[in-house]
Amino acid sequence: MPLTGRWTLTRYLIEKRRRHPQASGELNALILDVSLACKALARIVSRGPLGAGLSFAGGAVNVQGEVQKPLDVLSNEVFLRMNEWNGHLGGMASEEMEEPAQIPASYPRGKYLLVFDPLDGSSNIDVNVAVGSIFSILRAPAEVLHSGRNVVAEDFLQPGAAQVAAGYAIYGPAAQFVLSVGDGVAVFTLDPELGEFVLTQANVQVPPDTQEFAINSSNARFWEPPVKRYVEECLAGKPGPRGKDFNMRWIASMVAEAHRILMRGGVFLYPRDTKDPDKLGRLRLLYEANPVGFLMEQAGGRASTGRQPVLGVTPSSLHQRIGLVFGSRNEVERIERYHLEPPAPHAPAPLFATRSLFRY
Ligand code: AHG
Ligand code: MN
Ligand code: MN
Repeated sequence: MPLTGRWTLTRYLIEKRRRHPQASGELNALILDVSLACKALARIVSRGPLGAGLSFAGGAVNVQGEVQKPLDVLSNEVFLRMNEWNGHLGGMASEEMEEPAQIPASYPRGKYLLVFDPLDGSSNIDVNVAVGSIFSILRAPAEVLHSGRNVVAEDFLQPGAAQVAAGYAIYGPAAQFVLSVGDGVAVFTLDPELGEFVLTQANVQVPPDTQEFAINSSNARFWEPPVKRYVEECLAGKPGPRGKDFNMRWIASMVAEAHRILMRGGVFLYPRDTKDPDKLGRLRLLYEANPVGFLMEQAGGRASTGRQPVLGVTPSSLHQRIGLVFGSRNEVERIERYHLEPPAPHAPAPLFATRSLFRY
């Protein structure tokens, strides 16, 4: 279809705003600046080892205790520089920064907060597998805008249900920008000639059922019983309790897994486990679980900690980790049920074990 029959991201946002005449247009302007950061990163990532990204000095350890790849550092800079000047933000927080970033004094402050994982799945960069950027937009407390006080970590500790907008960019064979402003989910594909994100899928819906699951099974020995039960039942296939065969995928880029699930259904689990008692999960609540959870719920899917909807969790710290299960609604609800139900009796009931005819 020629471009004249398509909407750019700009047009999509303006058409949405027409239905909310009270909106100032600041959110739209902020989203366009976020999308510009994503376009810049799409270009850098697409050049692979030829680009500036991989020769950029890096290798420090971030607040997560993870080695920062050069592109983690560069993409964090791109997000900061593309968004600090526009007057729409009171502050920013990122996976790559221990403390929130302040808006430089030379720029005006605004009413939103931007939270991001500038490069998700960065362990995949060296092997040329899809990576992405994830973002979440929250409201800033009024005094950050009016009295000029600096943002603090507590300003960001809002439940995911308070997100004004959220989305991600995926840098795969095509670069795509996936967005929700709380009114469904839309997918835009970067037209490289035009340099514009063009609407290619409006009102995405996650199918409620699936035969595809995603989990890093090398952690199986650390899983809690409800997760073990769920995966065992999937693996048992047609003759098992689910009565159907399942397929398994693991990309190790959550944006890529989330995108696959938005496009064709599936369920993703990075559950709470017993691997490290100091970490209640692998993924980060504010800039991974919440934005992806918002998109899933907006697309008719579901996102959960296993025990409660992820969007209902009030964060306790900026870099809090959490168990995360998301995707096709009926599968996520099943996993939640397994967390509520008492463990299935795998071993013989004690009555038979102690009073068996064979033992007495
Ligand atoms: P990041 O690259 O931002 O640190 O996030 C990586 C995350 C996520 O994208 C992925 O699902 C998960 O880590 C992969 O974990 P494993 O290494 O355990 O597979
Ligand atoms: Mn990440
Ligand atoms: Mn990251």
